[in-house]
Amino acid sequence: MVSEALKGRSLLTWLDYTEEEIRYLLDLSRQVKAEKKQGEVHQRFLGKTIALLFEKRSTRTRCAFETAFGEEGGHPVFLSTQDIQMGAKESVEDTARILGRMFDAIQFRGFKQSTVETLAKYSGVPVFNGLTDNFHPTQVLADILTLEESFGSSRGKRICFVGDGRNNVARSLIVICAKLGVHFTVISPASLTPDAALLSTCAPLAAASGAKLTITTDTAELKGADAIYTDVWVSMGEEDKKEERRRLLTPYQVNQALMDKTGRGDSIFLHCLPAVKGEEVTADVLDGPQSRAWDEGENRKHTIKAIMLAAICGAALPGTKSA
Ligand code: CP
Ligand code: NVA
Repeated sequence: MVSEALKGRSLLTWLDYTEEEIRYLLDLSRQVKAEKKQGEVHQRFLGKTIALLFEKRSTRTRCAFETAFGEEGGHPVFLSTQDIQMGAKESVEDTARILGRMFDAIQFRGFKQSTVETLAKYSGVPVFNGLTDNFHPTQVLADILTLEESFGSSRGKRICFVGDGRNNVARSLIVICAKLGVHFTVISPASLTPDAALLSTCAPLAAASGAKLTITTDTAELKGADAIYTDVWVSMGEEDKKEERRRLLTPYQVNQALMDKTGRGDSIFLHCLPAVKGEEVTADVLDGPQSRAWDEGENRKHTIKAIMLAAICGAALPGTKSA
C-alpha cells in the first residue's frame, strides 16, 4: 500500500518517489486543505516533535512547517544554524544522531544537498528537504497542486519555466514533471540551462510518464503554455552574481507582453516567492488576474502537512474525525 511505503520516508528529492506516491501526497494535500477550509481541527501530531533547521532565511517554508505541525498538536522547534553547534563545534552526523533521539522528524533548509542526505542517514527519523542549493521538493508539490486546481489535472499540461534554469526550483520541477507526465520547458540563456546530468537522469522518467522536457533560449516556445513559472534571478547564496544575472535575464522578465506569448487568456502565472518585483516579474503580472502565486504560497502549508502526515503518521491516520 502506498501509505505504508511512505511511512518513515525522508523527502530529499522527488527522484526517490514513484508517480503513485506523489499522486497519493497530492490527494492527501487536497484532503487536508478541505479539512482546513471546513474548520475541522485535528490533533494528528499530538505528542510529536519536529526540529526545523535553517541555514538560510525563509518565510513560507518555515511558517508552513510550524503552523501545519503546531495546529495538529505537535511541537515544532526552530533551530537556526547560527545558534546551534552543527557546522561549528559539531559535525552534521553527530547532530543528526542527537536530533534523531529527541525528535520524530527533521526539516533542513540550507546550502548543500549532502547535509540533508547526512541528516537522513544518521538521524533514523524522516528528514524533509526544505530547500538546498540543488532541490526544493516541497515547493514543487505545491506548484503541481496549484496547477491541478487551475486546470483539473496536471498530466499533459505544459509548464514553461523562464529564468535561471539551473536553480533548485527549476531542477525540482524537472524531476516532478518527468515523474508525473507534465510537459516542462525551460526557457533561459544558454549559460543558465539545467545541468546535463540531471537531464539525463530525468530523460527515462519522462519517457515512461509521457512528459516532454524541452530546453531552449527562445521565448517563442511559450506559445500554448498552460503555466509560466519564474523564480528570482539570484538565489540565496549567489548574491555575488547579481549584476551578471541582471544582464543575462533582463530579456526573460515575465511581464504582460511575455505572458501574452502563450496566445491564451487562461494560462496562469506561478512563482515560488519571494518575488523581486521589477526584476524577474512585473508587479502587474504578479498581482494580476492570471497569477496563482498567492494560492501557490498557501498550498505550501497543505502540501507540507500532507508530506509530514504520510511520513510521521503513515497509514493509520488517527483523529480523522472532526474535533
Ligand atoms: N518559496 C519559499 O520557499 O519561500 P520561503 O523562502 O519564504 O520559505
Ligand atoms: N531559488 C530560490 C528559491 C527561494 C524559495 C533560492 O534558492 O533562493
